[in-house]
Amino acid sequence: MSDLSQPLPDFSGLTVAVVGDLIADRYIYARPTRPSREAPVMVLRQEGEQILPGGAANTARSARCLGANTHLVGCVGRDDAGHALVDRLGGEGIGLLGVEVLRGWDTPIKTRILAGEHDRTLQQVLRMDKEPAGPAPADTRQRIGERLLALAGKVDALILSDYAYGVCNEELSAAVAAFQEKTDVPVVLDPRHSFGHFRGLTAMTPNRDELARATGRMTDSLEDPRELRIAAGEVLQRTGCGQLLVTLGKDGMVLFGGLYHENGVQLPAFGSQAVVDVTGAGDTAAATFAMGLAAGYSGPEAMGLANAAASVVVMKLGAEVCTVQEMGAVLQEFAPSTTQGGRALKQAVRAPEPGA
Ligand SMILES: Nc1ncnc2c1ncn2[C@@H]1O[C@H](COP(=O)(O)OP(=O)(O)OP(=O)(O)O)[C@@H](O)[C@H]1O
Ligand SMILES: [Mg+2]
Repeated sequence: MSDLSQPLPDFSGLTVAVVGDLIADRYIYARPTRPSREAPVMVLRQEGEQILPGGAANTARSARCLGANTHLVGCVGRDDAGHALVDRLGGEGIGLLGVEVLRGWDTPIKTRILAGEHDRTLQQVLRMDKEPAGPAPADTRQRIGERLLALAGKVDALILSDYAYGVCNEELSAAVAAFQEKTDVPVVLDPRHSFGHFRGLTAMTPNRDELARATGRMTDSLEDPRELRIAAGEVLQRTGCGQLLVTLGKDGMVLFGGLYHENGVQLPAFGSQAVVDVTGAGDTAAATFAMGLAAGYSGPEAMGLANAAASVVVMKLGAEVCTVQEMGAVLQEFAPSTTQGGRALKQAVRAPEPGA
């Protein structure tokens, strides 16, 4: 078993595939000027604009930034946001042969307007989503499945990033099942509504809200550890998934699965004091967890790496990413809690059944 107090993980030998819904995260930076005479709102002066990769594109970027050779499979529209994504991802060395640029289909765009005086922290004042009219056409979805399957035997992990824009559907599940027949590398799904489409995955990484919806519960009810455990158990049983990593925002993460204590293995979030922007933390968590498993770490150890990487990301503005060095700095800074966490992890991990 690898040990988190050992030297930093080296992911540079890994090749990973990310398949899912690409999103453009558009940030508009503005300065308030005066109250509007047209409506009870402030007039803002736009001072800058930036498009960053979101959704599966951010998951791929997270994997790349941690050092993995990364292939992305999905689609964008033939529009400004789509071109900006392709340029940016290509510039960062992400393999884009699997990304189709579609005429007549809009790239999903999440626009956030951040306003403030120069010397103040920017506040998000508005978020506006532009969504495609429907999922990508059937022939594109079929090609996405074929491209995924073509990567079997060439990648060390497959990460499915579902943002409910139609890639992670029943059709993709057939391609994923065929992928799993060909190779036994970790397959990790970061789900939105797609829990039911995939069977026998290595792991899923829902947040509390996604787990609540999947099990017909209120999100608040999952603050009760007993309810959380029952909901996780239901999903594990229903989907035949090996491990369920539930991300709990400022409360950290908890990992459920047959190998662990029924209450799960929990890690507190690192460094909640310095949080700037939680966007994209879940993408980083999913990518890091999958890469940790692919690199031979146990589930709880991979969760420790994912928790550290996500905590770096929440300290940065925008859907941002984390390097192995930044992840290492967090693990070192929080060494006491990591050691305690490590001890708790060891106690919580069930000894294998005799003869198992
Ligand atoms: N406020 C916070 N303080 C510290 N860590 C945080 C905070 N919010 C998130 N994190 C870290 O990021 C991880 C993932 O966050 P979260 O549960 O919000 O994922 P998510 O809802 O899937 O995010 P996303 O917006 O990317 O979909 C958490 O498990 C934790 O490690
Ligand atoms: Mg998420």
